[in-house]
This record gives sequence, C-alpha cells and structure tokens, in this order.
Amino acid sequence: MISLLQKKGLKFFHPILKRLARIYLSRPRNYTYQGITIKVLPGVFHPGLFFSTKVFIEYLATINLTNKKVLELGAGSGLISIFCSKQGAQVTASDINTVALEGIQENASLNAANVRVIFSDLFDNLEEMDFNYILINPPYYPRKPKNEEEQAWFCGEDFEYFYKLFKQLKNKHLIDCTILMILSEDCDIEKIKMISSQNQFSFQKILTKRVNSEQNYIFSIIPI
Ligand SMILES: C[S@@+](CC[C@H](N)C(=O)[O-])C[C@H]1O[C@@H](n2cnc3c(N)ncnc32)[C@H](O)[C@@H]1O
Repeated sequence: MISLLQKKGLKFFHPILKRLARIYLSRPRNYTYQGITIKVLPGVFHPGLFFSTKVFIEYLATINLTNKKVLELGAGSGLISIFCSKQGAQVTASDINTVALEGIQENASLNAANVRVIFSDLFDNLEEMDFNYILINPPYYPRKPKNEEEQAWFCGEDFEYFYKLFKQLKNKHLIDCTILMILSEDCDIEKIKMISSQNQFSFQKILTKRVNSEQNYIFSIIPI
C-alpha cells in the first residue's frame, strides 16, 4: 500500500504516507532484497520504504568488493553492509542508533554475514581508518532530531551532521579510500557541497537514477 502510493508520486513525508508508515513500522517487519532477508525493528530506517538503499545496492553490485574493507557509516538495518559482506568485503557497520545496532547484529547472523558492528557518532569511535570504501546514506532534512529514530532523517537545524562529517573526514589520513554518498533531489545538495568544499572536498556525480518521482544521485567525495 505504502509503495503503491509512492509509485503514484506521493512523497514519504506526505501526511497520509506518514500515518500509514507509523502504523506499519510500529512492529518489527521482515524485508527481503537481493536474496537477503532482514528484520527491521521499530525506530530503524526501513530500506524498503525508500529508494536510496536499493539504488545504492544496485550501484555497489557493479563494483568488485572482494577483500575490500568497507565502512557503512550510519548502517540502519544493515542491509547494505550484509550485501557488501556477501560480495566478499570485510565490513564494518556503524550507527548512532542503539536499536539499529541490535538489529544489524541480528540481521548479520540471520544471513551468516560477517559484519563488525560499532556504536559511533560519525567517526568518534572509529579508530582504524584503513577502509577502501566509506558508504554514506545520510540524514539530510534540516531539523533537530528529537530522538534516535529521527536521526535517520534530520541532520540538525543547520546541517550539523554534515559540518561534523566533513571536518572529521578532513582530519583523517585516508589512503586508497573511495567515499560514496547517496543524496536525492529532495535535499539541499548545494548546501551540502558548500560544507564539503569548506573542508577541501569536492563532489563528483557518478550515478543519476530516477525512481518513481524521485531523482537519486551517488557522489564520490574527493579531497581537493
Ligand atoms: C537514511 S538512514 C540510512 C540507513 C542505511 N545506511 C541505509 O541506507 O539503509 C541514516 C542512518 O544514519 C544514522 N545516523 C544519523 N546520524 C548519525 C551519526 N551522527 N553517526 C552515525 N550514524 C548516524 C541513522 O541512525 C540512520 O541509521
């Protein structure tokens, strides 16, 4: 029902969709994509109700991830992390949402996937930085999150998530690391690019994909 309304062009934040989603997401829900079945706990970003996670996975399927070290920063349900692990990557999944971390742990073992799970506010608790890929599907609406669940959506009134992200990235010595971020036309991409350029990063668009009414972009984030 929710997907049908989305196909008709209703955005997720439409009041009707929001109400339906709240009811649907009040219980754990199973979701299957690309042969991976996960349990999405209440309060965790549901990858089936939005396009970004699936567009990201479609793109990742075109990359050889065998033996690559991958960090999914803000991993939510863990679907992307489990997919990468199945592709032969050594995966670390981090999140600030403790319920999400519990779910990733469970979903990884349900799928016999080897995923290291870490509680971290962005890079705060991530010490080793020898990743070949850092994958980010960020929260991007400018509002202060009121709870753990809202951190999947809201990046702070003044884009605090992005200021901290790029500041931390600037101070990391990343060697042979590709940083990929998925964004949609729904967000203020110019503002996010501006914050990145203040920290000496530029955005290179590597994929554009329209799903229903929404344009999605994957950017490679490159030090200037
Ligand atoms: C849009 S969801 C994406 C989830 C998952 N990567 C996916 O694509 O399905 C954003 C995720 O980032 C997490 N997040 C938000 N702020 C964070 C922070 N400061 N540090 C780590 N994770 C954060 C949220 O809890 C949420 O799980």
